[in-house]
Amino acid sequence: MRKYNVAVVGATGAVGEEMLDVLAEVNFPIANLVPLASANSAGKTIQFQGEEFQVQELTENSFEENEIEIALFSAGGSISAKYAPFAVEAGAVVIDNTSHFRMESDIPLVVPEVNPEDIEKWRNRGIIANPNCSTIQMVQVLKPLDRRYSIQRVDVSTYQATSGAGKKAMEELAQQMKDFFSFKLDESPHNAFPHQIALNVIPQIDRFMESDFTKEEEKMVYETQKILHKNIEVASTCVRVPVLRGHSESVTITFEKDIDVDEVREILENSPNIVVVDKPSESLYPMPIVANGKNETFVGRIRKDLYRNNILHLWIVADNLRVGAATNAVRIAQKWIELDNE
Ligand SMILES: NC(=O)c1ccc[n+]([C@@H]2O[C@H](COP(=O)([O-])OP(=O)(O)OC[C@H]3O[C@@H](n4cnc5c(N)ncnc54)[C@H](OP(=O)(O)O)[C@@H]3O)[C@@H](O)[C@H]2O)c1
Repeated sequence: MRKYNVAVVGATGAVGEEMLDVLAEVNFPIANLVPLASANSAGKTIQFQGEEFQVQELTENSFEENEIEIALFSAGGSISAKYAPFAVEAGAVVIDNTSHFRMESDIPLVVPEVNPEDIEKWRNRGIIANPNCSTIQMVQVLKPLDRRYSIQRVDVSTYQATSGAGKKAMEELAQQMKDFFSFKLDESPHNAFPHQIALNVIPQIDRFMESDFTKEEEKMVYETQKILHKNIEVASTCVRVPVLRGHSESVTITFEKDIDVDEVREILENSPNIVVVDKPSESLYPMPIVANGKNETFVGRIRKDLYRNNILHLWIVADNLRVGAATNAVRIAQKWIELDNE
């Protein structure tokens, strides 16, 4: 198989590091790997498949100079806005993890298990967007159920890990826990979140919008509709919890048709990259510690509503840095390669 020159933009970040791990694990066909980050990281070395690579400073010329063919971006929206066009200009396909391009109508927003056919549209602008971490794990579960029962409405509450806000946010939780055990939690600084996150939950992720929902909550609504190609009703409450890795979601789905819980279980068991963990009598259900470092989405607590036969409740957990970011981006890249080799 042909090999490709691959750039990882934001290679020193929480998502970028995971991206490198996933690329190595799937033995991605890489001719030349170029890790890019800010000037602060230039010259640092990273390990990849037993070799050392030097991190380079991201510049407008990085892509042309290195003849990049696939550019995986996860360095923040403003960095993608500024530098993705240079990557495209240099002939690369950009797979962007930030929210910058997601809702642009001519940019495909892709979860490979759900709407792989949209990858074709990369030709419009040379860019494929990776959805928000909470959206990815939810639509992986919604899609196969929608095919069978047709979804009308989704109500979701999330329990999102600190790593969703990057490396510094994880460190902030760890520091606050240390400060708690030294009786200094009151003085412990918080910069990543609007309040202390240790021993707390915060019902705000990102800023509040005119709708009174937060930007994160609106992302879950509009991204879900775009990926499913369906204007279903979605209401979301996004909450930050003191977990390092792994987003959990309590999801209530209203269907057009009545559901059969055994059949729901069977459908999910046969869906790609989904693992059903649902033995309540043995206290077995998905949790962040189960999903950590995994490339699958875990589903459990599957139950029918007490009052209505067309309403289902379930609990979804996935590793936000993997399923919600790096693994999804790498799966998109693998699908793109299939198209390139047709
Ligand atoms: N965390 C998640 O679960 C998740 C999921 C989906 C999408 N995302 C998105 O992915 C992006 C990165 O998130 P993260 O969690 O990995 O953040 P992070 O841990 O803070 O890492 C940020 C990365 O961007 C690099 N960077 C910052 N400024 C730069 C610049 N001027 N030029 C080049 N590189 C620069 C940093 O390099 P230095 O180390 O040199 O500063 C670092 O590699 C964000 O847009 C985020 O919304 C995150």
